Amino acid sequence: MKYQTALVKVAADGLGSDKIYSAAVTILRSGGLVAFPSETVYGLGADALRADAVAAIFAAKNRPADNPLIVHVGDLQHARKLVEDPHGRLEKLASAFWPGPLTVVLPRRAHVDPAVSRGLNTLALRVPDHGVALRLIRESGCALAAPSANLSGRPSPTQADHVLNDLSGRIPMILDAGPCQVGIESTVVDISNSTVRILRPGQVQAEALEKVLGEPVTRDAGAQKHRSPGTRYRHYRPQAPVWVVDPRLPAADWSHLQKQLQAFRWGYGGQRELDPGGRVVTQLLCDGAKAFARDFYAALRQFDANGAQLILIDKPELTGLGTALWDRLKKAAEGELCHGNDVEALLAKIPSNSTKNRT
Ligand code: TXA
Ligand code: MG
Repeated sequence: MKYQTALVKVAADGLGSDKIYSAAVTILRSGGLVAFPSETVYGLGADALRADAVAAIFAAKNRPADNPLIVHVGDLQHARKLVEDPHGRLEKLASAFWPGPLTVVLPRRAHVDPAVSRGLNTLALRVPDHGVALRLIRESGCALAAPSANLSGRPSPTQADHVLNDLSGRIPMILDAGPCQVGIESTVVDISNSTVRILRPGQVQAEALEKVLGEPVTRDAGAQKHRSPGTRYRHYRPQAPVWVVDPRLPAADWSHLQKQLQAFRWGYGGQRELDPGGRVVTQLLCDGAKAFARDFYAALRQFDANGAQLILIDKPELTGLGTALWDRLKKAAEGELCHGNDVEALLAKIPSNSTKNRT
């Protein structure tokens, strides 16, 4: 279906704009799609209990058919209508982290259409910490299935114009409440089994979950990766190749690399010193993990928009939020630069026709 996509501004606290919300609710109640902001990234929402609405999400995003969706609910009571809680962990997590960037995976109740979790007997659920998302859930009366509102494989959208760039003509409406505050997607934790397991790291970290649950939390999805199908796919790829700069890369090799890149337009994310005379088109400052997370996806898109031929980003420290950042950066990256040899290997891969200056 082809749409004239409406991009409409709303306040981030979810107040006002009654006509806009009633138009959005009409679309959702008729099985249509509305992109909306959350605290993590923009989501592409539809009625989670309608198989036709769920199918429309997959079509608009070109999403692989076996990758299940997260369902957004208003509160704990709403969640309980959709899932069972065999190990009694839901209430503890909900009171500590909801509304917020924590998605829990629990056994799906029988009345919930299996389309939303692609036939898995579990369902992923969260209560978003955003006035616009919560108002949409409340006024539509729907649980909203919402994956990130990007075309599959592209960086997740943290601003409404990112959604418009990817989905213009493919969806009827985008609610624009400005940039998302967290900037990377929610932590996904499987609490359906005897062992609690993080399937996707995010802002809510294992230590915090352990403290609230009073039991150990397995950090690496490892052999269980198939349980969260979304972790299998190539993700977040900008057009230009991304290389990660390891803190061990000696200053001399960094300097050598910059000299070799003088003919190129490149993007940089990090705190290393930049030689004057280089052609850095966009710089992501990565000043602390929080700011790094908030600005990361927007920077990936900006590098492309500014014609970067190559993107170099410093490896985050692998503590706290850095673990989640590394999870996303790893999926976007071609490789890591730790030694001079890696630099030579990277330079050899840059096609010679791209040595011409682009303007
Ligand atoms: O912050 C977020 O989580 C954002 C906002 C919009 O809420 N949503 C988001 O959705 O990131 P998406 O579809 O891009 O990622 C959902 C992830 C995927 O890795 C998917 O495989 C996993 O959650 N997932 C969904 N249902 C699952 C289930 N029943 N069992 C295991 N993993 C599941
Ligand atoms: Mg996504």
